Formats: sequence, structure tokens, C-alpha cells
Amino acid sequence: MASNTLTIIDNRTGKRYEIPIEEGNVIRASLLRQIKTSEDDFGLMSYDPAFTNTASCKSKITYIDGEKGILRYRGYPIEELAENSNYLETAYLLIKGELPDIERYKAWEHNIKTHTMVHENIKRLMDGFRYDAHPMGMLLGTIGALSTFYPDAANIFDPESRRLQTRRLIGKLPTLAAYAYRHMRGLPYVYPDNDLSYTGNFLSMLFKMTEVKYKPNPVLERALDVLFILHADHEQNCSTNAMRSVGSSHVDPYSATAAAVAALYGPLHGGANEAVVRMLMEIGSIKRVPEIIKQVKAGERLLYGFGHRVYKNYDPRAKIVRRLANEVFEVTGKNPLIDIALELERIALQDDYFVSRKLYPNVDFYSGIIYQAMGFPMVMFPVLFAIPRVSGWLAQWNEMVQDPEQKIARPRQVYIGEGLRHYVPIERRPAPAHLEEPVSEAI
Ligand code: ACO
Repeated sequence: MASNTLTIIDNRTGKRYEIPIEEGNVIRASLLRQIKTSEDDFGLMSYDPAFTNTASCKSKITYIDGEKGILRYRGYPIEELAENSNYLETAYLLIKGELPDIERYKAWEHNIKTHTMVHENIKRLMDGFRYDAHPMGMLLGTIGALSTFYPDAANIFDPESRRLQTRRLIGKLPTLAAYAYRHMRGLPYVYPDNDLSYTGNFLSMLFKMTEVKYKPNPVLERALDVLFILHADHEQNCSTNAMRSVGSSHVDPYSATAAAVAALYGPLHGGANEAVVRMLMEIGSIKRVPEIIKQVKAGERLLYGFGHRVYKNYDPRAKIVRRLANEVFEVTGKNPLIDIALELERIALQDDYFVSRKLYPNVDFYSGIIYQAMGFPMVMFPVLFAIPRVSGWLAQWNEMVQDPEQKIARPRQVYIGEGLRHYVPIERRPAPAHLEEPVSEAI
């Protein structure tokens, strides 16, 4: 018997099945369908709400070992990229699979910068949002609207079209994000300045006032660039899954990206760094840390920014962000919340509650503190996450479109509703027995 197989014995029938094990630990769920009690039986399937143990694709992009705290893009450790690369180069790596040589990097940078402007009608579309519209909602709406500006994007099987939409999206995201911010502040929009770096230009579009030319602070420019590298991809998280799932219908990439942005908008995904900052502001002082830890251990509250579905060790991105915070504070002045965060981490990491549950700081524990020190309002935090993540989404979308094994995403369900029943005309129908809401709510 081959050793890389799984033997299943169905105790209902006594039949025995050999299921191949691929890639070291993978079985194909579709092979379970052969396990039946009779010819007209549907066959077995697996039930996995939230995909906690189901791979939806094979991917060559990002590798995570959560037990060891390892994150690599295309094989390169995140620490090396954060130290030596810049966001645009990392985006190239994610999308093309290799780091560029000088010539290719220059062409890539030029191609992205050629697409930083948006159609003037996009500006007018932005003007239509209420004065207090959430910038992430504005980003979501305008990215979706881009599909109407670029109908050629529907040609998703044309590699040249995919390349063009990829450049357009990476080029335009900072512009849309900055316009959303300026709209929120009631400030005039600032056009892109392509003499600046990708992040320098973003800072200019956000913060330029009456000066003729905005000069980004190099430390803040670099810090934002590193944060962009750290957030560029994280394999099959909720928003990437949305990008792949919606993209699997063969819709254009702007619509699929809008879906991914919508997923990232949710507080369980892109909003955790805001929850951390709110928590630290509420704690208010180092003196209250022991009391807070006690409440967490009693199950009365969560320690936001701690724990992760995949990392059961220190999130490697959190280590880098913690170091970065000090560099940023040299320029902006210290955000006092950092002291509370460090004390929370110090106490938590020597407490058995956290150690036994393998709860370590995740990337969000420190990133919000940096963004706040840089002058970003909390509503901008998920937008700052979306800008770099678009390169990850596009890398994953490109891979999905070209993967011959992929089809339209269509999970199965386990139906647990009513059996067959027959329609009764409304005048002969009694009040529904198990619907408890009052009639007014039903209306
Ligand atoms: N504070 C206190 N206890 C926690 C925390 C936390 N932050 N996270 C997990 N636990 C406890 C749980 O109560 C549970 O304890 P139990 O075994 O006694 O019941 C145990 O640790 C395991 O936790 P789960 O909820 O099963 O872990 P899961 O993998 O489902 O959740 C999650 C991961 C959602 C990130 C969780 O750790 C959490 O809510 N953290 C706070 C929110 C946060 O920081 N989210 C950002 C994630 S990173 C990102 O999205 C970019």
C-alpha cells in the first residue's frame, strides 16, 4: 500500500477507500463524494464553516508558518523585505514572482506613476458623498465605479489587460484614498506629484496645504513604506478570499477589488488597529494595566491586538512595527499610548493565561499607534491597510485567473431547513407558529 495515502473505512457499509495525500498533508474534498451508502446517495462532504481547515487554492505567493512566526513573500522573509526593499518593489515581487532588476524596476515604477491620476468625474463622484462619509466607504464606492471607466477591464483572460488594470489600481489607490481624506476634511483635492516616491506622493496628496511643493519627511515616508510592505499580502485572509471568490465569477478586477475592500472594512479584519487605539485610550494609564489584564483573564474583555487565527507565536510584522514606532516618535513626538501598549505586552507575555493560549501581539497592536502619531484619524486606518493590500489582492487574482483548477467559487451547504410543504393561500393561512416578532416588525 502506498504510504502517502489515507485509508478510510466506512462503518456504514464496511467499504474501504484509499485517498491520495498530496503536498504532504492535503486530501481532495471531492474524493469524499465516492463514499456512499447507495448509488443515489450524494456521498460524503466536509463541513468547514469559516474555512478553518480547508485550502481553497494552491498558491505560490505568500508562506506563513504560524507556529514559528514566519511570513515570506515569494520565499523572501518579511524581515529582509522590510529592511531592504520598498513597497513598489515588493508589489512587483508579489505580482510577478521575482524581484526586478534595475531596468525592470524603473519601468514598473514609471508604469505605476503613469496611472496615479483619476478621471475628473471620479472627483465629482467623491463630491457626492456626505461631508461625514467614512473614507473606507468612499474608497469602496469609487473603486467599484472605476469598472465603468475602464470597460476594457472585462477582458480578464487578456494578459495585457490584466497588466494594465494592475498598474491602474496600484497607481490610483493612494489618489482615491487621499481624495476621500480631503473630502472628509473639507479640503481641496491635491493632484499627484510623480516626482515624489509612491508613499511621498501619497503624503503630499493627503497633507499638502499652500506650499508650492510638498516635501515629505523622509523618516515618515520610509515608515509608511515599511508599513505598506508589511500589509501587502497575508495569503487567504477574509478580503483576499473575497477577491478570489468574487473574481472567480470572471467579473472585472475593479469590481472584485471593491468586494475585497468591503471585506477589509469589517471590524474583525481591517478595523482591529482602531479597536486597539480605542482600548489604549480607554485604559488611559499604565497604572490600570494589571486591572485590565485581570478583566481579560476573567473573560470580561478582549485584549485587542493580541491573538491571531494563524500565528501562535509572535507575529513577525508586530516586531517590525514596534521598532518602527520609535523611529516615527523621533519625528512626531511620542504617542503616550505606546507606554501602555508596551506594559500590556510585558505583563501579558509572562502571564500563564496568554502563554498557554499562545496569545502574542499581532500586527495591529502597534500600527494604529504609529498612524495616530503621524496625524491620521482612526477612520483612515483601514484605508491605509487597503492601499498596499491591493497588490496582494491583484497577485492572488492573477494567480487565480490563470489556475486551470479554479472554477467559480461555489461552496456546498448542509441544508437543515423544512422538508417539502405545500403553498396555502394567504386567507386560509394561520399565523406562523414559530415567528415571534410582532407584526409591526415583520413590516
Ligand atoms: N484577548 C483575550 N483572550 C483571547 C484573545 C484576546 N485578544 N484572543 C484569544 N483569546 C482567548 C480566547 O478567549 C480563547 O480562550 P479559551 O480557550 O479559554 O476559550 C483562546 O484565547 C483561543 O481564542 P480563539 O478565539 O479560539 O482564537 P481564534 O483563532 O478564533 O481568534 C482572533 C483569533 C479573532 C484574532 C482573536 O485572537 C481575537 O479576537 N483577537 C483580538 C482582535 C484582534 O486583535 N484582531 C486582529 C487580528 S489580526 C488581523 O486581522 C490583521
